[in-house]
Amino acid sequence: MQDIAWYASIVPMLVISLSFVFVVSLSGQTAQVETAAQERLRKTLFLAFLVVGVPLTAHTLAELPYGRPEAWAGPALTIDAVGRQWEWSLSRDSVKVGEPVEFRVTSADVNHGFAIYDSAMRVVAQTQAMPGYVNVLRHRFAEPGTYRVLCLEYCGLAHHAMAAELRVLPR
Ligand code: CUA
Repeated sequence: MQDIAWYASIVPMLVISLSFVFVVSLSGQTAQVETAAQERLRKTLFLAFLVVGVPLTAHTLAELPYGRPEAWAGPALTIDAVGRQWEWSLSRDSVKVGEPVEFRVTSADVNHGFAIYDSAMRVVAQTQAMPGYVNVLRHRFAEPGTYRVLCLEYCGLAHHAMAAELRVLPR
């Protein structure tokens, strides 16, 4: 998944960068009047964008916001998570595989990033920990193991030391 996201970002970035280089290389030349063929191509491309791009955009936005509460079946186990410089406190440190868990995340001081990593150090869920506000993060752990909660937002000298453990037990 990370690889797909990487290529889905880097390829369009390369294409956009190259098109900037192309435009810069044309600067200084005298502009030419568009030919009839060029005008047809421009209009066709714009029409194709309208026909493909607009419905595609509408389709990808239709599911927002992701993880709507009504899609959440079963009573959730609630874990209160509070971030502070520089530690996490969790009201529980173990859950069971497949159990719907609702993290209620806040901060006692500054903004922190609440990120849950699996044993391979991949982020499985994340949200912001903000003072004066509770963010709800719902997650079902698919695999047993020891997960780590780390801070994803720089919050001062010992930002890197903000870590907690969450054990996900087999059913
Ligand atoms: Cu908390 Cu970085």
